[in-house]
Amino acid sequence: MTSLPWWKEAVIYQIYPRSFFDTNGDGEGDLPGITSKLEYVQQLGVDAIWLSPFYTSPNKDGGYDVADPRDVDPRFGSLNDAKALIHRAHELNLKVLADIVPNHFSDQHKWFQAALHAAPGSAERARFHFYDAHLDGTPPNNWISLFGGPSWTQVPDGQYYLHLFDSSQPDLNWDNADVKEDFEKTLRFWLDLGVDGFRIDVAHGLVKEDILKNHHDPQGLSNALRLDYPMEPDERNELLLSVPYFDRQGVHEIYRSWRNIFDSYGDREIMAVAEAWVHPPINATKYVRADELHQVFNFDLLTAPFEAAHLFEVINRSIELNASVNALPTWALSNHDSPRVASRIGDQPSCALALFVLALPGSNYIFAGQELGLPDGELQDNDRQDPSFVRSGGLVKGRDGARVPLPWSGDSTPFGFTAGTPWLPLSQSWQPYTVENQEKDAESILNLFRRALSIRRENLLVGQNIQWLESPLHGTKGGSILAFKRGSITVVMNVSDSENVIELAGNVVLASFSSMQVNTAIKLLPARSCIWISN
Ligand code: GLC
Repeated sequence: MTSLPWWKEAVIYQIYPRSFFDTNGDGEGDLPGITSKLEYVQQLGVDAIWLSPFYTSPNKDGGYDVADPRDVDPRFGSLNDAKALIHRAHELNLKVLADIVPNHFSDQHKWFQAALHAAPGSAERARFHFYDAHLDGTPPNNWISLFGGPSWTQVPDGQYYLHLFDSSQPDLNWDNADVKEDFEKTLRFWLDLGVDGFRIDVAHGLVKEDILKNHHDPQGLSNALRLDYPMEPDERNELLLSVPYFDRQGVHEIYRSWRNIFDSYGDREIMAVAEAWVHPPINATKYVRADELHQVFNFDLLTAPFEAAHLFEVINRSIELNASVNALPTWALSNHDSPRVASRIGDQPSCALALFVLALPGSNYIFAGQELGLPDGELQDNDRQDPSFVRSGGLVKGRDGARVPLPWSGDSTPFGFTAGTPWLPLSQSWQPYTVENQEKDAESILNLFRRALSIRRENLLVGQNIQWLESPLHGTKGGSILAFKRGSITVVMNVSDSENVIELAGNVVLASFSSMQVNTAIKLLPARSCIWISN
């Protein structure tokens, strides 16, 4: 009997290394810190970890500005520490995904430094997107960087280089053979070191076309790309369909060639997941065609309101679209780029929604701290380090709130995270969230996640479909109850602000609220809650 690949329906725990656990007292998490906490991760019941970048980097964009993709930044440790981490993870039966950042390098990468010192038209400049200024000195086009401000920065000889993100992150030219070859080398480097796959950063951005063409509404487009910017859905959709630098056909050729590399590792079952924010949503499925990548992130739930009709629509759409290419969906409620789900929709809803999606077919990505119910950190503007805060002149608060280090133990901040001063402050109000406190409390969110993952592993079979259930109240597609059945488990979520009676037989095996309140006889489902019933 052949078993299914490990990554099908895997639960993957995202670790932001700088914020996980600090072992050397410098206030920033490090690789030995992660290694020392892997047993905690294993006990959660996840299958794999995804590590946000830990490579050599000036850290202008949280390590997504890579100066040497085949080495470890001293702030995180050494290559030997990376090997030890991978080794320990494998001992604990955890797979390891590394983050690969192919859209850009840091301006400190030796190639970019060489390009700066080389002449216009040189081979060194050809690895990036260097162009002459217009006759009036303005940049080659009017694109706006995703972090605000122009997408172009001028160098002393007058040429401009393209950067879709910070000016310290020059975009690579994927038409250049050196770039392709270097990334293949990087993939093999980490695979040979033992990683089991990759999360591919800005996977939809690598190939640029019509680089000299202006966009008809660059400011509108920039607003549309900002999830926190209020805009009519139709207007946003129309603008997002016109992004000139994302989702060009050429990216798929790159992933087909990478797939060959992954497959060459045979029964190691190497997998990759694409970060691809693309429009319309059907385009995301192209990244997971049989000869491309294995998974693509679905970002719908990072912004979805806690409303039955909306949740039904985005969840159902993702299942169906993925099925059209024989792939399974992915679910994520938080990551290092968006507000934490507990802050965005509230404590109870976030817990209910977590249980709901953990029972769905596909992979779940859990952002470290989500299992503790952590909210965003309370930061002052002078704490903030995100380039989007700096480049927007403070207009965009940025992503630091979700990146505040984890509270592990003790009664006072920084709750065991570091013996030094944490790089972002942990609020004293986080005491109830510490791992130490939650481990002691059978009803804590941490223990709820552990139970959910264990029941999922035991009862929900990979590849098993769901069947939406008509709600006893208003029907699945409207109203306040969302319910589905998957094998022997029925999942019911009440999104309303009042309790609801549900008429389903079976035993409640999991509830997003304190189990003391579970009334198996009348099945009164509290406001904003979710239960799993076993039949
Ligand atoms: C991705 C990362 C984000 C980073 C950006 C530029 O979206 O998730 O953190 O800032 O790419 O690399």
